[in-house]
Amino acid sequence: MSDIQKDTPLIEMRDISIAFGGVKAVDRASVDLFPGEVVGLLGHNGAGKSTLIKILSGAYKRDGGQILVNGEEVTINNPRDAKALGIETIYQTLAVADNVDAAANLYLGRELQTAWGTLDDVAMEAEARKVMGRLNPNFKRFKEPVKSLSGGQRQSVAIARAILFNARILIMDEPTAALGPQETTQVADLIKQLKKDGIGIFLISHDIHDVFDLADRVVVMKNGQVVGYARTDEVTKDEVLGMIIMGKVPPAAIPGPGALQTV
Ligand SMILES: Nc1ncnc2c1ncn2[C@@H]1O[C@H](COP(=O)(O)OP(=O)(O)OP(=O)(O)O)[C@@H](O)[C@H]1O
Ligand SMILES: [Mg+2]
Repeated sequence: MSDIQKDTPLIEMRDISIAFGGVKAVDRASVDLFPGEVVGLLGHNGAGKSTLIKILSGAYKRDGGQILVNGEEVTINNPRDAKALGIETIYQTLAVADNVDAAANLYLGRELQTAWGTLDDVAMEAEARKVMGRLNPNFKRFKEPVKSLSGGQRQSVAIARAILFNARILIMDEPTAALGPQETTQVADLIKQLKKDGIGIFLISHDIHDVFDLADRVVVMKNGQVVGYARTDEVTKDEVLGMIIMGKVPPAAIPGPGALQTV
């Protein structure tokens, strides 16, 4: 990848705002994301994390602000717009079809066909094995319905589906909240693999340890505003907790509009 490409963020959200009734759920929030980077979004319940990324995924329409993809302003009015730009969301409640196998899930709604117009199961399974082999080499249960898979395996099916359709940006909102420790490790390995492939990931998690292990940078939100931005190798977990709880920004971090004003 050239330096020029590396210098252009995959995503730039600038001064994004949205209100529900009178409540400013997101208030002039700016975040960016580079290729191969994991950016952790942190903050208490109701801080605005999910709302901000739902604007990126097209689930909510913003009241103000701009979104740039690869340096160019884009229009995202619905999930289809976002997908067309390579932005995919992996939900905690996984959008997988339980009664069919991994290959069928990967191609759900976008099935491959043979020259005769019938479903090309052979090609779909071959592609599924290729993508899953790259993401999760231990995965062997290609013939089983997805409902019999573990949470971590289901997660990898959902991610494989996104990758197969050229996602460049993945949004993961609490991807491990419903998973056990072993499966959480599996998802962490998946994230590391996706990074190597140059995919950018917004990771929302309540587990600051998970975020520290996986994220290159963190963005802390509070009351809809960005408190600050920090590189995980330049701040301590305690400093980030101080940002989350008090809005206090340590010297190595960059303050946002929601930073505590010290008089
Ligand atoms: N569809 C909606 N209608 C009304 N208010 C909403 C809606 N979605 C979010 N909000 C409000 O916006 C604010 C931010 O919520 P959001 O879900 O983005 O927080 P969060 O940081 O993701 O929290 P959590 O950690 O609990 O998931 C909250 O006050 C919430 O009640
Ligand atoms: Mg949320």
